[in-house]
Amino acid sequence: MKLLLATRNANKVREIKEIFTSASIELVSADDVPGLPKDVEEDADTFEGNALKKARTLCAASGLWTLADDSGLEVKALGNEPGVHSARYAGEPTNTPANNAKLLRNLQGITDRAARFRCAIALCAPDGREWAVEGSCPGRIIDAPRGTTGFGYDPLFVPDGYDQTFAELGSEIKNRISHRARALQAAQQAWIPLLQENC
Ligand code: IMP
Repeated sequence: MKLLLATRNANKVREIKEIFTSASIELVSADDVPGLPKDVEEDADTFEGNALKKARTLCAASGLWTLADDSGLEVKALGNEPGVHSARYAGEPTNTPANNAKLLRNLQGITDRAARFRCAIALCAPDGREWAVEGSCPGRIIDAPRGTTGFGYDPLFVPDGYDQTFAELGSEIKNRISHRARALQAAQQAWIPLLQENC
């Protein structure tokens, strides 16, 4: 069966494809299906609300079982900001260097650098049923970017139990321990039987 990934973010498609593997499920990205809405406004105040909205919208437009994620970074000392605003923390349009610079500015002089990445994944069926799971990855924000792999806040985030940033650790380790990996593992366990039943 075809399972639509409700994202045009190539980094996310790559990470999801590396993790969400099952012989009988063909993953297609929103770019592979003509006529889908370009953007779904992420205006919910939770990751789960945004993931469900994206999955629901593209499921209705495509008629396909649809998987969507929404993710972001929560920094304890900043009252869990940037949170659902992670992609546009420094304003529109999304600008990763500006987001990272704003985060470092807001943390200047703050010694509590605890943070966590969070990810919600939603699944919608063409008959209107929907499900959601979450994963998180605790860590800390360092003082200056390090590393070249990954995307977004990866060069600033050191996961608990490691001394290197996600951007230094590389995709093999990141894909084992990240918020998205943990949410996808939960999704895989809960939903593969369901998807296979509906093939
Ligand atoms: P989304 O596309 O609405 O889920 O936006 C997520 C935003 O959160 C991204 O643009 C990044 O800024 C940040 N983010 C989410 N996951 C990650 C990750 O794995 N590494 C680095 N940044 C991330």
